[in-house]
Amino acid sequence: MTRGLFISFEGIDGAGKSSHIDGLAALFRDQGRHVTLTREPGGTPLSEKLRALVLHDPMHPLTEALLMFAARQEHIVQVIDPALTRGDVVLCDRFTDATFAYQGGGRGFDWQVLETLEHMVQMRTDLIDKSLLQPDLTVWFDLPPAVAAERLVQARIPDKFEAQPIAFFENVRNGYARRCAQNPARFVQINANQSREGVWLEVESAVMSLLALPNKTGHTP
Ligand code: TMP
Repeated sequence: MTRGLFISFEGIDGAGKSSHIDGLAALFRDQGRHVTLTREPGGTPLSEKLRALVLHDPMHPLTEALLMFAARQEHIVQVIDPALTRGDVVLCDRFTDATFAYQGGGRGFDWQVLETLEHMVQMRTDLIDKSLLQPDLTVWFDLPPAVAAERLVQARIPDKFEAQPIAFFENVRNGYARRCAQNPARFVQINANQSREGVWLEVESAVMSLLALPNKTGHTP
């Protein structure tokens, strides 16, 4: 059986990822693919408990980074790896790039320490070259933090990250830009500062080129 497809979705809070992730899930299911829809931090019972802690409890930046990777370790072993082995399409709402963007960019935490943790958690020991588990495609919903902040005003009660000032999200956005520049083959930067339809067309086009399929499946999220 061929290994599945791993797609992650990134962006600052308020970037509007959710409806497009749901739209892609429907698109893949219509093609007869089995879809595993999941998120970080979270995706397993233990990782969801860790999510509740990191999103609401104040803590040292190293503790925050370690908990993100602890949740990820469980998520990879329990959910992502088995799904990819089954041949599923794994659609993951945030993955390691979020740690580089939020803990590295936003909090200013040491980038190299994050790279060390990334190697510990994502090293594929089953492969001879010991490459890292990374998404096949990372869709980055990029928009100015001031626009995202306006969208978040109408949203639910903010968590620890959503309550941060715009300057924090400028740094998170810079963190994403740095990861994008370091991984140009994997990243697709989407202009999220446009109509939902316009965003969808860009998302669909990115995924179709990954699959080498023609555009315009007729889906909208
Ligand atoms: P969500 O609300 O989009 O599910 O994301 C949860 C929050 O956690 C969001 O504000 C981003 C943050 N986060 C990090 O700070 N580091 C990480 O590694 C991940 C995955 C999320």
